Amino acid sequence: MSVHEQDWWRNAVVYQVYIRSFADGNGDGTGDLAGLRSRLDHLARLGVDAIWINPWYPSPLADGGYDVADYRAINPMFGDTAQAEALIAEAHARDIRVLLDIVPNHHSDEHVWFRQALAAGPGSPERERYLFRDGRGENGELPPNNWESMFGGPAWERVVAPDGTPEQWYLHLFDIRQPDVNWEHPEVRADFEETLRFWFDRGVDGFRVDVANSMVKEPGLPDIVEGVNDAQDGGHPYLDRDGVHDIFRSWRRIGDAYDPPRVFVAEAWVPDPQRLARYLRPDELQTAFSFNFLTAAWLAEDLRDNIDDAIAENTRVGAPATWVLSNHDVCRHPSRLARKPEAGRGWNLDDVIALPADPELGLCRARAATLLMLALPGTAYLYQGEELGLPEVEDIPTDRLDDPTWELSGHTLRGRDGCRVPLPWAAGEPGFGFGPSGTPWLPQPEVFARHAADVQEADPESVLHLYRDALAIRRAHPALGGGALTWQESPEGTLALARTSDSGDGGFTCLVNVSSAPVSLPEDAEVMLSSGPLTARGEVPADTAVWLRH
Ligand code: NOJ
Repeated sequence: MSVHEQDWWRNAVVYQVYIRSFADGNGDGTGDLAGLRSRLDHLARLGVDAIWINPWYPSPLADGGYDVADYRAINPMFGDTAQAEALIAEAHARDIRVLLDIVPNHHSDEHVWFRQALAAGPGSPERERYLFRDGRGENGELPPNNWESMFGGPAWERVVAPDGTPEQWYLHLFDIRQPDVNWEHPEVRADFEETLRFWFDRGVDGFRVDVANSMVKEPGLPDIVEGVNDAQDGGHPYLDRDGVHDIFRSWRRIGDAYDPPRVFVAEAWVPDPQRLARYLRPDELQTAFSFNFLTAAWLAEDLRDNIDDAIAENTRVGAPATWVLSNHDVCRHPSRLARKPEAGRGWNLDDVIALPADPELGLCRARAATLLMLALPGTAYLYQGEELGLPEVEDIPTDRLDDPTWELSGHTLRGRDGCRVPLPWAAGEPGFGFGPSGTPWLPQPEVFARHAADVQEADPESVLHLYRDALAIRRAHPALGGGALTWQESPEGTLALARTSDSGDGGFTCLVNVSSAPVSLPEDAEVMLSSGPLTARGEVPADTAVWLRH
């Protein structure tokens, strides 16, 4: 698939780079552009079509970089614009496209506009770019409404004037240091459009759109009332409001003006697949993560229903589905699946941490889940380290936790650091080869030695080899393009899906045994790839997936 192909995003494998934790080039303990550039060959050998890089912009990192202070520059911690341009060229030379992350719901409190807004005071035009409001109560001492921050606590912070007088409040749906911007303001719209063009002009192939479903707020910012306006059905005061679609139509026009057209993937946790598909209408965004697949229980019916719903709704608007099992916000899938099947539905570590876990079983299921995902039509996203079979790190000492969730939840939720631990590249080196020296910014557990890239490389049965083999087959097999999926009859508790290419070539089936007993292979089937060893009698054991040619 060359970088010039227009529709590459319909059937791509995209690798997510959490840059802080991918590879450290300068030895300061934090991942950076030099580290990423030095490891591009790992990604090329893995066989991915694109990378998505989490925010790399100047930021105080109050929320891991999702608090952007300047959208058109690089955080000096990670490198500079020249290095970013070199990375884009080096990735393209390997036929790997580059997607960035745009954060349109909020800025960092260090963004120049926010500083100006604070300085300019109540009623100023500078404040209109954000959502400043007077407080309720006699002296404005209560937040303007009852909205809560996604990380815990109220979604409002009261400003204190330089002389110590408390004054207005500003909205922050996320951290206190992430003021929401006002999308009704033409300057806000124009500024984000300029950012898109800035990076597109530098060869960037597209953007992942952060919290794409919450940028537009209901005028008047009403309270949320349980059972009245708390559902994502169009009536919620800030989730999935119809107004967001106009924004994406204008972004699509910008992306389409480039050759090849630039693409978007929406991060929109919209549970109803029909509403999610509205983001994917032909003049809006090309793709959006189908998170319902990520949160499906490890049960045949749950998996199949969520796959079917996503494909059916997206097909109606001509869009592919976008599958993902892990990312920088969720508990890594081997650790979710290490619990009882229903635990898969809990997406973060705090949802599952108290449940008994069997890490070997989790990894076995994770390997099978990956083969299932990679057999589906549409695009698949891989999160760095999953190709090494990394588990979630569940016991980071609390004084090392960095996710704002820990503070804002009053030290009750650990948050998302467990999936953000720096990658192990070489088992025998300090910091498992994360960088030339220095201590990785989050502590790595001993178990990472087993998962280090050099150990995985040397073991043909490793997760790394499984991913490489799967991606190679996916690229070469004619039925694994954009064509249809058909479910086959299969024993209770199993899934069997056949794929057929657009030109009618078939011959591919993926069988996933989600039951607790081994199942026989269909007659005349030849195993191309298996997520784990078959039984002595040639059956597919529980929690195993196979790719079959027939
Ligand atoms: C979703 C991002 O993936 C997450 O990491 C971040 O905290 C929030 N959006 C806020 O930007």
